[in-house]
Amino acid sequence: MATKLSVNINKIATLRNSRGGNVPDLLEFARDCERYGAQGITVHPRPDERHIRYQDVMDLKPLLKTEFNIEGNPKENKFVDLVLKVNPAQVTLVPDELGQLTSNHGWDTIANADYLKEMIAVFKSAGIRTSIFVDADITMVEGAKKTGTDRIELYTESYARDYVSNKEVAISPFVLAAKKAHELGLGINAGHDLSIENLMYFAICIPELLEVSIGHALISDALYFGIENTIQLYLRQLKVNQ
Ligand code: PXP
Repeated sequence: MATKLSVNINKIATLRNSRGGNVPDLLEFARDCERYGAQGITVHPRPDERHIRYQDVMDLKPLLKTEFNIEGNPKENKFVDLVLKVNPAQVTLVPDELGQLTSNHGWDTIANADYLKEMIAVFKSAGIRTSIFVDADITMVEGAKKTGTDRIELYTESYARDYVSNKEVAISPFVLAAKKAHELGLGINAGHDLSIENLMYFAICIPELLEVSIGHALISDALYFGIENTIQLYLRQLKVNQ
């Protein structure tokens, strides 16, 4: 199964916002990522608009040719309105809090079952593919299935952290969670702290992987290798699943 690479461009917006102008140009960067082979563009607008702004999301939509993935917390009404207005290929629901540095946990799909079910129905009725961010935990995957979502996104922070000391141990809960998701007919995405070092092993061990969304490590590598080369390097890691 081919795993798609979706480039998260939040860091580019952070860099731009640090000076208040339009350098680097986020829209041009997104289009270039697509030209260099990215199969999707991911953005994660947050209410404080400290990186991607709501207007950026609106501006990106008509320009993109690949899959547009918008991540965020639907508890923000503004987020829901934005997603419905933009109508991206995919929305990924993430339970992050106001002001949080970055996402640091998946949904408790049992405690939030009714709420998630309701939100998934809202997005699906608008024809938007849905994904919910979950830890590599079979109970949470089973809960996700009950919400009616099309896909899950496995939160890979623990995999990336533990990969360095013992990759077999690090991947083990992800293989089990992915196996359960696959059995239940859920599509599988993954993201957070995936990098040029740990990506290939993840893709080899989870052949059902449909999409990875990568920001921090990929953009950091681009400082050394350039964005065109970096996208090629990451795509090569995913070749194991093509
Ligand atoms: N997936 C989700 C839900 C995220 O919140 C993030 C970070 O914004 C990512 C993937 C990408 O993580 P990273 O920047 O570490 O590649």
